[in-house]
Amino acid sequence: MSENRLKHLALIMDGNGRWAQQRGLRRTEGHKKGAETIRDITKYCSEHPEIETVTFYAFSTENWKRPKYEVDYLMRLLDNYLKNELETYRKYDIKFQVIGDTGAFSKALRHRIEATVEATETHRSLTQILALNYGGRAEIVRAVKKLCNRDEPLTEENITQALQTPYGDVDLLIRTSGEQRLSNFLLWQISYAELTFTDTLWPDFTAEELDTIIEDFKTRKRRFGGI
Ligand code: FPP
Repeated sequence: MSENRLKHLALIMDGNGRWAQQRGLRRTEGHKKGAETIRDITKYCSEHPEIETVTFYAFSTENWKRPKYEVDYLMRLLDNYLKNELETYRKYDIKFQVIGDTGAFSKALRHRIEATVEATETHRSLTQILALNYGGRAEIVRAVKKLCNRDEPLTEENITQALQTPYGDVDLLIRTSGEQRLSNFLLWQISYAELTFTDTLWPDFTAEELDTIIEDFKTRKRRFGGI
């Protein structure tokens, strides 16, 4: 039997707040360490040619409900991350893309996002997608509206094409911190994904653990509804 191919990896990064609280730190310190984990995992993916796309759930449409200082911190962290990452994107030939509604972000942050997308658009070794102000249901509704406006038939194929992420189905979805929920992430694209839940908090998640999870993924029987 041939091994499963891992083309699209998706990650729900959870547990930053708990990681910080366990150390008597502010929750924001957990996010800061979490951003470093994004960098490590992205590098790992770029060094594994079969992985074409990695999507991180960085800010959900629900995250606006957090205290203002935490939301503001996350916005600043994202801005700094993109500023500092440009070198990594160049060095590792990584294309940066965003899904979600960034219209609610500040003009400066939107500009940073657009500039990073533009600067990396010819890169080919890996596509790193950050889901920002993202909700899976909203993405599906937008796709369906688009098709209705164009008077196109509502088929699975057309909806898939009309989504903001025409990057193909997710093969493996990982959620950290022990929670076993999907939290409105890539709902359409995870229809046949293999799921892994680990107790590790996101800031402690490592390339070594990812490697072990991928080894396990390779041995799973994916049947896609067949027998
Ligand atoms: C959940 O931890 C994490 C998030 C709010 C999203 C992930 C954000 C980062 C990794 C920060 C860096 C992001 C970028 C793009 C630079 P939580 O706060 O819900 O943890 P808890 O459940 O322990 O409270």
